[in-house]
Amino acid sequence: MKKIAVAIDGPAAAGKSTVAKRVAEILNFTYIDTGAMYRAFTWYCLEKGLDCQDEKACVAVIPEVKIELKPGHIVLCNGQDVSKEIRLPRVSQNVSYIASYKDIRLALVELQRAMAETSSVIMDGRDIGTYVLPNAEVKIFQIASVETRAIRRYDENISKGIPCTLEEIEEDVRRRDYIDSHRDFAPLKPAADSVLLDTSFMNVDEVVNEVLKIIEQKMKEKVNA
Ligand code: DC
Repeated sequence: MKKIAVAIDGPAAAGKSTVAKRVAEILNFTYIDTGAMYRAFTWYCLEKGLDCQDEKACVAVIPEVKIELKPGHIVLCNGQDVSKEIRLPRVSQNVSYIASYKDIRLALVELQRAMAETSSVIMDGRDIGTYVLPNAEVKIFQIASVETRAIRRYDENISKGIPCTLEEIEEDVRRRDYIDSHRDFAPLKPAADSVLLDTSFMNVDEVVNEVLKIIEQKMKEKVNA
């Protein structure tokens, strides 16, 4: 079967990764969490004691950082498993700065494109449909209200034992929305050929089914084109 790429973009905490993981399992595609890569880079900068708002200092460490995504949603940074650490508030609060630096984006996009070369993928992020995989067969832009997203991320953190308050999560979501959509290079925005999916009033199963339907529909259109 021909390789297929599915791009799922959207703002922070819209539930993209939960849905992408499930759909990847059902279709036997490789799931690529690009946000985890920006988070791992941010974790490394923080570990080195760098100020994440200092672009020059953070860009300078690009050659030192090796990020790998392994089966089972394991994220390695220079061989160390940082899957849990990258979800901590200090990383969430700084990752949008790191993701706004063009040189860091270019380095990570190169890795992301290479991953999509070898198998069918479902990749989630902010710029997948617009920049990373502009020829993706299916592009979905997944949104939900700020309040819904904050509650979902809060529940997720609490269930993982990550301490936080709903107020700080909502503030972080708003701040990241702003930075992610106002940066100069590859900002968060829907691709012209993406399908908009508002999940504010949908549960996970409903969103998964809707995404599967969109993929099936798009593939039918391609065959008939
Ligand atoms: O999806 P997430 O919350 O784990 O993403 C973390 C940050 O990384 C988010 O603030 C925006 C950024 N990001 C990005 O700029 N481009 C991507 N393709 C993925 C994430």
